[in-house]
Amino acid sequence: MGRFDGRVAIVTGAGSGIGRATALRLAREGAQVVMADTSETGLVETGNLMPERAEHLRRLVNVANEAQVKNLVSDAISAFGKIDILCNIAGIASTGKGHPPVTENERDEWDTVLSVNLIGTMLLIKHVAPHMQARKLGSIVNTASVAGIRSGAGGNAYSASKAGVINLTMTAACDLGDHNIRVNAVCPGLVETGMTKGCLITPGPMKKPTSWAIAANCAAMASRKRLQRLFYFLPVTMPAISPVRRCLWMAAIPPL
Ligand SMILES: NC(=O)c1ccc[n+]([C@@H]2O[C@H](COP(=O)([O-])OP(=O)(O)OC[C@H]3O[C@@H](n4cnc5c(N)ncnc54)[C@H](O)[C@@H]3O)[C@@H](O)[C@H]2O)c1
Repeated sequence: MGRFDGRVAIVTGAGSGIGRATALRLAREGAQVVMADTSETGLVETGNLMPERAEHLRRLVNVANEAQVKNLVSDAISAFGKIDILCNIAGIASTGKGHPPVTENERDEWDTVLSVNLIGTMLLIKHVAPHMQARKLGSIVNTASVAGIRSGAGGNAYSASKAGVINLTMTAACDLGDHNIRVNAVCPGLVETGMTKGCLITPGPMKKPTSWAIAANCAAMASRKRLQRLFYFLPVTMPAISPVRRCLWMAAIPPL
């Protein structure tokens, strides 16, 4: 029996990297997975890697577009009748212009990065959570970054967006805790994916991804007990654990 048997999960950013690995692992452990991404090729490739007989949906969705997010959620409900788990993983590091100092930052870089990483995460929570509230059950895992906790791990807009995701995680956990919905964030260190391939071959400190993988872990958890709101904010240094394992650990819904 799989840890996620009978569970329905939405995974954004499922077309590549951490999102793909999370979608595949959830499916392998029994979940029905609704995969969203802006990359059709990426979604098809992930779909092809799905275990045989794993029920899944693929949807082309820009998480920063509220109408598309609403359609995604109604498609998930029409197909599977419920949503137990939301993994907000879609993200971008920049618009491709590198990481210039703040004095050279352009407004459109900030608009784009914050729209995808922070506002996209909020939109998914906004439209998924009411379905969880109705059943008094759900687990939401957002993807922040060590860059959201300490400087130097990303550009200005990226780091600010991930700090925003950490804060949104805590406020959403306050809003949703009484409805038995847990909201957590994972803060991965450097992981080799489509986003970071360039960094890993660049000479310099980034050459040692293992030291970055000693990542910070941040969790904002709402107590399942009504009226007893309990929050943890734990930026702690931990031995390397893959963000996918951590994501699934947080997504698992304990028995009531
Ligand atoms: N790789 C790392 O080292 C690292 C470290 C810390 C945090 N993260 C975070 O992990 C998450 C996943 O990143 P990754 O490393 O797997 O990168 P990736 O580039 O391999 O995957 C990101 C996926 O998100 C999709 N995406 C981008 N914009 C989107 C949008 N507007 N709507 C829907 N989908 C969109 C992309 O098409 C891609 O498939 C991101 O939020 C990233 O910030 C990554």
